[in-house]
Amino acid sequence: MKTLDELLQEGVNGRRVLVRADLNVPLDGKNITDDGRIRAVAPTVKALSDAGARVVVCSHLGRPKGEPDPAFSLAPVAQRLGEVLGREVAFATDTVGTDAESKAVAQGDGDVLLLENLRFNKGETSKDDTQRAEFAGQLAAFGDVYVDDAFGAVHRKHASVFDVAQLLPHYAGWLIAKEVEVLSKLTGKPEQPYVVILGGAKVSDKLAVIDNLLDKVDTLIVGGGMMFTFLAAQGYEVGSSLLEKDQIETCKTYLERAAKLGVELLLPVDTTTAAEFAADAEPLTVGVDAIPADRMGLDIGPESAKTFADRIAGAKTVFWNGPMGVFEFPDYAAGTKTVAQALVDSEAFSVVGGGDSAAAVRTLGLPEDGFGHISTGGGASLEYLEGKTLPGLDALEN
Ligand code: 3PG
Ligand code: MG
Repeated sequence: MKTLDELLQEGVNGRRVLVRADLNVPLDGKNITDDGRIRAVAPTVKALSDAGARVVVCSHLGRPKGEPDPAFSLAPVAQRLGEVLGREVAFATDTVGTDAESKAVAQGDGDVLLLENLRFNKGETSKDDTQRAEFAGQLAAFGDVYVDDAFGAVHRKHASVFDVAQLLPHYAGWLIAKEVEVLSKLTGKPEQPYVVILGGAKVSDKLAVIDNLLDKVDTLIVGGGMMFTFLAAQGYEVGSSLLEKDQIETCKTYLERAAKLGVELLLPVDTTTAAEFAADAEPLTVGVDAIPADRMGLDIGPESAKTFADRIAGAKTVFWNGPMGVFEFPDYAAGTKTVAQALVDSEAFSVVGGGDSAAAVRTLGLPEDGFGHISTGGGASLEYLEGKTLPGLDALEN
């Protein structure tokens, strides 16, 4: 895999460089609520611009349906990228149309242009190879070379991630290089005890990673909405909590496998519940064997949080993906906060994966430098740890 360092050595002055970034940031209307992904890719864009490249940046935002939708415009991102870079970022109101073309032609050395949302075009995510290739061809026209730094999207076989790399000389940006360097340590032989903490709403999103990690970890901790399917697999009544009935059997097999392997699969012993899914719902903490039928668990309880934190304290390597509860509601944020704080306090090599966990870290006001690495990839970091071939990385290798 060639990297940005090699490209910079070749020299980029006056050359057109197409950069795929993952600028898929959370928005509240037009306000960016977490700019972590913008800051993470900025060094790559800045280095290219400093070296005199004509930089054309492209990204997706959200999941629009293949046509322009103002709610998913990258316009606010262009402005923030400009602030972070400390230089003007031009914005094209289309992706490969006349505005993008005329703004690209007008670029001088060192100029940065951001194209409108890639997913306003059907070809970007199409399952039809020909349709994707056609859109990739239009994108490739903006660059003499292609730099992929969209780690959060490398698990997608999309035109801007996969197909463009077949058309242009390609390089991995600094963010992708860093992410791969860190995550590969977790798939190799991480220092033990190795503790993995999984949370988030859906257990079905995490099955493959559980399957792949079970024989590599010393302790697998499960919290968040997904914990209730595991608790149900252990025979507990979970009230109106999130439950994926069709996954109960699979969870049972993981509990059995963990027992056979001598791996500790740690589940909560208590949970903080609410009568409804609302920030102002009155919290009630109960043992997992006493969840009232009309209440839903929205967080792990304090006793579980303490046990989880103890395991983290004793670990040498920790990977955390997914909040322990609905941390956006202050009454249900304690579990996530305790786990995050335990990672900050630990001496372990700690990796936080996933947009939600990374956002939780920042929302809860924890110091980013208290963690070994905060990945910009959610699905991408999980699929990497699952040992899957990721189309975006595969394209950069070849
Ligand atoms: C993410 O937020 O996980 C990435 O930006 C990929 O987005 P996607 O899941 O909509 O493909
Ligand atoms: Mg996602």
